[in-house]
Amino acid sequence: MTNEMGNRRVDKKSVYDVDFDYYINNATPAYIDFMNSEHDYLRNSISRGRLLELGAGSGRILKAVHDIVDSAVGVDKSKTQISALKRNVPHGNIGVVHADMRDLPFKEGYFDYATLMFSTLGNFHDEDKAKILSEARRILKKGGKLFVSVYAENAFDYQREFYTGLGFDVRNEGSLTIVSGENGGFVSERFTREKLEQLARSAGFSEVRITPLTEWTYMCEMVK
Ligand SMILES: C[S@@+](CC[C@H](N)C(=O)[O-])C[C@H]1O[C@@H](n2cnc3c(N)ncnc32)[C@H](O)[C@@H]1O
Repeated sequence: MTNEMGNRRVDKKSVYDVDFDYYINNATPAYIDFMNSEHDYLRNSISRGRLLELGAGSGRILKAVHDIVDSAVGVDKSKTQISALKRNVPHGNIGVVHADMRDLPFKEGYFDYATLMFSTLGNFHDEDKAKILSEARRILKKGGKLFVSVYAENAFDYQREFYTGLGFDVRNEGSLTIVSGENGGFVSERFTREKLEQLARSAGFSEVRITPLTEWTYMCEMVK
């Protein structure tokens, strides 16, 4: 990623206020491969039914799968991303809801599928990860599936590439990449299979399947 991308980032309030489409359209080959692998995995794993995309951003995942489900809803906490979603996603079978994924405004057992992509889970502390997974499980039907894509143990070079491209500084600390900049910072975790399994089981999911998505990412499928 170029300095130009870094410069675009400088006056933003947080990483979630960036123009995700700009970064998606200018992604490096490794990230294009990662995103295409997410699309392929989801398209091969879901059919019909209702889908909820957690942290929907600018609508990349909704656009990739909306034609194979009956309906889809994207939730996001950022007003910038809600505006992007309203502009970007086809209106027919896709809804947009401004909400926090730790406390979802949907009734129990309503959705067939939920998705949490681009290693978004790794931006939360463990207590919030538990809330997110338990909320996702609550809104799923019995047998419904949550798909979570995350950075794997060996992803540091790819995290550095991505976040320095956004204009942040990064440093490596255990399983965490600490991302900092003039507008604040956040963490991006790299996951082991054991950690994913433990998070899913603690949230009450009955089956867990973990598959490498690229050489540096996993897809974790959790079944209610
Ligand atoms: C890394 S982006 C992923 C966007 C999209 N899912 C994709 O893969 O292209 C994470 C998204 O989660 C949203 N987000 C962060 N914390 C959230 C929360 N507590 N509740 C809902 N959305 C949140 C951010 O605003 C951002 O749009």
